[in-house]
Amino acid sequence: MLQGKRIVLGISGGIAAYKMANVASMLVKLHADVRVVMTKNATRFITPETFETLTANHVYTDVFDESGDLHVPHVNLGTTADCILIAPATADVLGKIAHGIADDMLTTTVLPATCPVLISPSMNVNMYENKIVQNNMQILRDYGYEVIEADSGFLACRTEGRGKLPKEEDLVEYILRACATEKTLAGKKVLVTAGATQEAIDPVRYITNHSTGKMGYAVARMAMLMGADVTLVSGRTALKKPLFVDVVDVVSAKDMYDAVTARANDFDIIVKAAAVADYRPKSVADEKIKKSDADASIALSRTDDILGYLGAHKKAGQVLCGFSMETENLIENSRAKLEKKNADMIVANSIKEIGAGFGTDTNIVTMITKDSMTELPILSKEEVAVKLLTALSELNRA
Ligand code: CTP
Repeated sequence: MLQGKRIVLGISGGIAAYKMANVASMLVKLHADVRVVMTKNATRFITPETFETLTANHVYTDVFDESGDLHVPHVNLGTTADCILIAPATADVLGKIAHGIADDMLTTTVLPATCPVLISPSMNVNMYENKIVQNNMQILRDYGYEVIEADSGFLACRTEGRGKLPKEEDLVEYILRACATEKTLAGKKVLVTAGATQEAIDPVRYITNHSTGKMGYAVARMAMLMGADVTLVSGRTALKKPLFVDVVDVVSAKDMYDAVTARANDFDIIVKAAAVADYRPKSVADEKIKKSDADASIALSRTDDILGYLGAHKKAGQVLCGFSMETENLIENSRAKLEKKNADMIVANSIKEIGAGFGTDTNIVTMITKDSMTELPILSKEEVAVKLLTALSELNRA
């Protein structure tokens, strides 16, 4: 996701500096050109050689160091970056940048930069909460820098409180949001549903399906990275909630119906990737149902069709996308859903194909609209998400 992007990591002298090796490595795996700048104190916690090995680039610690492939590095590192992350940012570095002091390679790199600059402070809780430090953070925010709130927990100084560097994967997500994709959905509100619903039989048992939520979570995350304001209505899943997305947890089809229909009017694009139960037990037993030697059956009643409701109450300009998972007659059955539910697109996939369906990281789908049918090859669920969101934003513009 970071192919062709230059990411500068500015590391200052806090114990969390060691965690930045992971961040550098994760960025390299996303194909970024990673450049590291360290303060002298940072090199006492982790060596420049660690980052040189991970990034295959020269690491700068001195403003007069002209080695490496860049001309006048203390200017050109900042001006050629697509994003700068300063992490951990010590109280000293926050103060210097907030007041325009540029007396080392890290602070000098920040001043000429025109790209997004993210600053992730990490320090002892009392230092973090000190008014001087808090004021400096506010000054930085007012200048347009993004200051990332520190996490709370057990700190290296043996105190509990705010001051921890956020998780490495979260820092990477901030970078991705800042520069990974074009903001083609900026100003759009996107509602996504994901995961399986659970229909209770008794306090112990329920009816559900194999959906893991991966496809819907990928749609929500990619819509967020493309600049949309995203709400995700999620059935129970084992997945980590995406950052920067408003998540509404639900359990049953009725909960999902209530959560979606109450909000639908506010959204430009709605993607119904959830696998919603079509039936629920007619009655839910208050106590655990005890077995007997006889066979048993469960009386079922229909749930409300959420996509059907949305199609019938679509507001002008709103674009609706449903999913269709079939084992036979994929295209005909999916086309029938498009018409019956008044959707603008149905994303159809066959669970019989290898690389498609439940729990996989890839999918093989066909995007069906009233006038077109686009078969996609096997792609990661994130890539499928970008394709369908791009097509939906075109329908929203039309
Ligand atoms: N859906 C919904 N509300 C339901 C059931 C399904 O909104 N109660 C949505 C799903 O989120 C998905 C699409 O409808 O976007 C799936 O269509 P559907 O016709 O329900 O598919 P199946 O139930 O799999 O099809 P079948 O009619 O073959 O049972």
